[in-house]
Amino acid sequence: MSDKKASNQMWGGRFASGPAAIMEAINASISFDRKLYAQDIRGSIAHSEMLAQTGIISAADQEKIAHGLNTILKEIEVGTFEFSTRLEDIHMNVEARLSDLIGSAAGRLHTARSRNDQVAVDLRLWVKDECFRVAEALKGLISAFLERAEEHAATVMPGFTHMQAAQPVTFGHHCMAYVEMFSRDLSRVRDAIERMDESPLGAAALAGTSFPIDRHQTAKALGFREPMRNSLDSVSDRDFALEFLALAAICATHLSRLAEEIIIWSTPQFGFIRLSDSFSTGSSIMPQKKNPDAAELVRGKTGRVTGHLVGLLMVMKGMPLTYGKDMQEDKESVFDAAETLDLMLAAMTGMVRDMTVNAAAMKKAAGSGHATATDLADWLVRTLGLPFREAHHVTGRAVALAEEKKVSLEKLSLEDLQSINPGITQDIFSVLAVQNSVKSRTSFGGTAPSEVRKQIRTWKKRIAKA
Ligand code: ARG
Repeated sequence: MSDKKASNQMWGGRFASGPAAIMEAINASISFDRKLYAQDIRGSIAHSEMLAQTGIISAADQEKIAHGLNTILKEIEVGTFEFSTRLEDIHMNVEARLSDLIGSAAGRLHTARSRNDQVAVDLRLWVKDECFRVAEALKGLISAFLERAEEHAATVMPGFTHMQAAQPVTFGHHCMAYVEMFSRDLSRVRDAIERMDESPLGAAALAGTSFPIDRHQTAKALGFREPMRNSLDSVSDRDFALEFLALAAICATHLSRLAEEIIIWSTPQFGFIRLSDSFSTGSSIMPQKKNPDAAELVRGKTGRVTGHLVGLLMVMKGMPLTYGKDMQEDKESVFDAAETLDLMLAAMTGMVRDMTVNAAAMKKAAGSGHATATDLADWLVRTLGLPFREAHHVTGRAVALAEEKKVSLEKLSLEDLQSINPGITQDIFSVLAVQNSVKSRTSFGGTAPSEVRKQIRTWKKRIAKA
């Protein structure tokens, strides 16, 4: 039996050439960490400048290094750079090419540095940039909601609890609930940026270095507020990635709730909204259908984003300090969550901007199901001085009577209502109409159009400054 055949039998298939091929496949991260090329080169240039300024390397070598790195950047950007799996990751791919280009000076770049602090700084830079992208996208979505809210500050719709029509609210008020939710997401992004704004570069492998480096200089050059204070923590920390995934998962959850509402509202049974053709598809077999695919995909992709958070939490939970190769598993979750969230935010902003609101259908639904029963009870308390529990009981009898007569509450006659409580007067009809019910809820944060408009004004100013 030839050697080749023996190894084929042992390892089979893709790994026919044996342990070396298996190790290369499990060890390499270049297929995904090449995404960090710009950050890697930026970090290396900043490091080399600091090495030259502190006299650790010569200015001439630094110039060669920087020139070589800029050449590599261009090669990657135009697509002529050859990535090699054998060279494992982006750091070694770039360094090997630098050596081809400038010779021995390339070997000085890695002085007082390790791939452990290098990868930590690269990923931090990438996540920080992504956080700024998410913040901008969130501002776009919030602005879309503010516009719809303004347009529909007085458009009545049923408000739901338990998915049962509860009390009338306005569509503008409903939109503003999402403004609150996405603004919290925005503040989570800002908080996360604040905490991740520290540079791990210069921690070297884990213990710091005996070279007289200046970590404040590299931190500043890379746009970080300051260097991280503990070298062990610098290379072992992945909180910034976890926080990004956590805020992404919470934001995705908000988007998913919205997607679910859009799906329900756009059914012919509800008919509250109509999605534009750009964000829906027809059925290949049922010509009457218009499917809310984009919303369904937003709802579906939420599982994936949350999965990435849970995935990285599981990777990190068993890690003793400091670096371990397990941490190479941090990148794909972060990249995929970022790409997915960016797309979800873009799709949702488009849907909110483009959807047609059917105010008549909303109003009709708001008036059904005796939605103003609470208003009747409140009127009995306010005007006749009934204790609320008793008013609730009287209202229950009025609802039963309306059901018996197959009419809505506001269509009962004054005589009908007086047969339940003789104190009731004509004035009751001023609260039984949905429009009046909504107008009367002027408590802070309530659904009255006047209140909703106040909130819109406040948020418009805040978002302009955010
Ligand atoms: N590719 C590695 C990662 O993504 C880079 C750091 C490697 N460090 C090491 N000591 N092997 O985490």
